[in-house]
Amino acid sequence: MKKLSQSVSYDARDGVAVLISNNPPVNAMSYHVRQGLVDGLEMAQGDEDVQAIVIHCEGRTFFPGMDITEFANPNVPEAPTTTGVIEKLESASKPVVAAIHGTALGGGLETALGCHYRVAVPSAKLGLPEVKLGIIPGAGGTVRLPRVMGVQKALEMMTSGNPISAKQALDEGLVDEIVEGDLLTGAIAFAKKVVSENKPLAKIRDLEEKLEGARENPAAFDDFRKSIARRTRGFKAPEAIIRSVEAAVRLPFDDAIRNERELFVECQNSPEARAQQYFFFAERQAKKVSDVPKDTSTREIKSVGVIGAGTMGGGISMNFLNRGIPVTLLEATQEALDRGLGIIEKNYASTAKKGRITEEDAKQRMSLLTGSLDYQALSAVDLVIEAVFEDMDLKKSVFERIDKICKPGCVLASNTSYLNINEIAAVTSRPQDVIGLHFFSPANVMRLMEIVRGEQTSKEVLATCMKLGTDIGKVAVVVGVCRGFVGNRILSARMRQSEDLLLKNAMPKEIDQIVFDFGFPMGPFAMRDLAGLDIGWLREDTPDKDTNIRHLLCTRGRRGQKTGGGFYDYQEGSRTPIPNAEVEQLIEEVSKNAGITRREIPQEDMLKRMIYAMVNEAAKILDEGIAQRAAAIDVIWVYGYGWPTYRGGLTYYADQIGLTSIVEDLERFSKEYDPELEPAPLLRELAQEGKSFREYGGNP
Ligand code: 3HC
Ligand code: NAI
Repeated sequence: MKKLSQSVSYDARDGVAVLISNNPPVNAMSYHVRQGLVDGLEMAQGDEDVQAIVIHCEGRTFFPGMDITEFANPNVPEAPTTTGVIEKLESASKPVVAAIHGTALGGGLETALGCHYRVAVPSAKLGLPEVKLGIIPGAGGTVRLPRVMGVQKALEMMTSGNPISAKQALDEGLVDEIVEGDLLTGAIAFAKKVVSENKPLAKIRDLEEKLEGARENPAAFDDFRKSIARRTRGFKAPEAIIRSVEAAVRLPFDDAIRNERELFVECQNSPEARAQQYFFFAERQAKKVSDVPKDTSTREIKSVGVIGAGTMGGGISMNFLNRGIPVTLLEATQEALDRGLGIIEKNYASTAKKGRITEEDAKQRMSLLTGSLDYQALSAVDLVIEAVFEDMDLKKSVFERIDKICKPGCVLASNTSYLNINEIAAVTSRPQDVIGLHFFSPANVMRLMEIVRGEQTSKEVLATCMKLGTDIGKVAVVVGVCRGFVGNRILSARMRQSEDLLLKNAMPKEIDQIVFDFGFPMGPFAMRDLAGLDIGWLREDTPDKDTNIRHLLCTRGRRGQKTGGGFYDYQEGSRTPIPNAEVEQLIEEVSKNAGITRREIPQEDMLKRMIYAMVNEAAKILDEGIAQRAAAIDVIWVYGYGWPTYRGGLTYYADQIGLTSIVEDLERFSKEYDPELEPAPLLRELAQEGKSFREYGGNP
């Protein structure tokens, strides 16, 4: 074996040259990988004994694309570019086979598309996720993929960024063979077959047939634009991808490649791309807890108990059933249990009907679910998640009971949204095993899980839950104990401002529109209608009953979408909010009764009040150590509340605006509108020192 560069080696076996990349942790295509590939190709072509070439990666994956850390590093040599490497592969005089395992993503898949043939193991995934980084595939992906898969499917894959399985790739002609046994052995055998059968040097650039349909029907691009408009609102890259594919259909291959390059550079230089690339690393940073090293021991979670079969308990259970982990669902009454089990069954039936899982899957998942009214049923489970009503006394009584019943070592978790985990842990004899696992609704869909670390939670329990989060497909972020933890605490800060605006300045529609236009999927009032206005409603104990608009709406039976109306009306089967004149009249009356003269204020102030109140709360959260780093806050708000990733995240956005200017605005707002908006000490401190949130400890 000959070493060609820091990461690439060359090995010739039985007439086949193997170029092996080993660039841990994920074989990103750093410049030395690209250089090694170019050198290896040259060597293989110059070697008379070599008849074919295989590209293989060691470690956990095939190339997952360009080395993203090089994007912002001017000191790294640009040449050879990925496009240059791919051109050399495609024009090689001997057949080149890509041997794919793990994930072939971005420039990695583009490299594979430059090879003459591709083989993959069954577990491999192939995708072009550049859109998630705010860029477009920039090494021929937008020009080659439609030539293989057709325009529609290629557009879907590139604008979603989601990978496909090896089996799908085989069906689409993206890979030529699935290798069941050892990948390298299979790839070499495939390469030999190409030689012995005298197969051509197949070049994707020469394929035209799959482009014909779109050439005859260019309007299909506009139809596609419309179909993705809602989910891509505010993002730049999806439109650039469509434009690049349009050009790929219209222009000769080399011109289309040049055009793709221009669009790539345009995207790469955009603030959206910088924000999304920041977020990529933020997400990975947020997973790390400084005093819990990677090798911390974990407990095995093979069975789970969930207490409470309501909105959250049902959704939480599904996470485990979906991963083949049996769940015992415990309820207080048979009626509530039957309802809870029925909803889960209905959910699976509907997913099966949509074709997302098979009937067999649905049955198998339900077979892992056992309902019970008896706490003894939890005696042998490895983890219990409590999801009963949000009531401290009730939660304490539940934890006292499970403390007596559950086996030693069982992790005892609460899904509380706001309550103090330390207080809950204190009623048990094993506070080290108690933790918060705060899922978001709908719990089987939402990716975020806040892991609430109590004062006494052990590192082993914490590490167990972090691993569990990954195992069930969640984005798990560790937070500390305070009212509402990170996400809901910041939400409360925004809510306070939106309610104040409602009382003094504007109607729900105007306030929601501002937040929607900023990039959120919906505004605060539409969001409350969706969640249900009676969540956390204290009914008779509500303070200021006459001026509390939520209370007044609830007492009028307007409890949100589920009752056909809340702040807005909703037509049967529709989630579109329609302003209601009576609600607006009620709001005006409430203002009047409270002695408030309503007045218009600039929209800019309205937006800033809501967003900067969140920024201010974020600073307090960091100062108190509730979040370990600013990146964690950004991840929570993106995955839990729909913060637009093209704005990076809450604290990233604040850094872009500049903390000095935010402090100035908050000072003015605290005098003009709400004393609560007084800038937090940490925010002032950072502003005075000319620093950003990113510079405040451990951020990417
Ligand atoms: N460049 C640089 N570093 C990368 C990287 C990349 N492309 N992909 C992953 N890493 C780093 C991560 O930051 C992380 O570093 P850390 O350990 O210091 O935090 C480490 O590799 C492990 O990554 P993950 O924690 O994400 O590991 P997983 O096993 O969960 O996932 C993966 C592996 C599926 C490959 C995932 O990392 C991933 O999706 N990577 C990015 C893929 C991507 O976006 N590719 C497109 C790149 S842009 C491009 O190719 C442009 C081209 O069109 C010209
Ligand atoms: P829910 O009212 O839908 O369900 C609670 C269930 O608990 C009911 O079915 C009830 O019968 C059952 N229950 C009550 N006492 C019980 C007992 N002693 N033993 C067994 N079961 C009992 O409530 P929801 O919305 O599911 O909330 C549950 C918890 O999750 C709360 O702490 C809430 O704050 C939290 N949460 C709620 C979110 C939401 O959006 N609904 C989001 C995140 C957390």
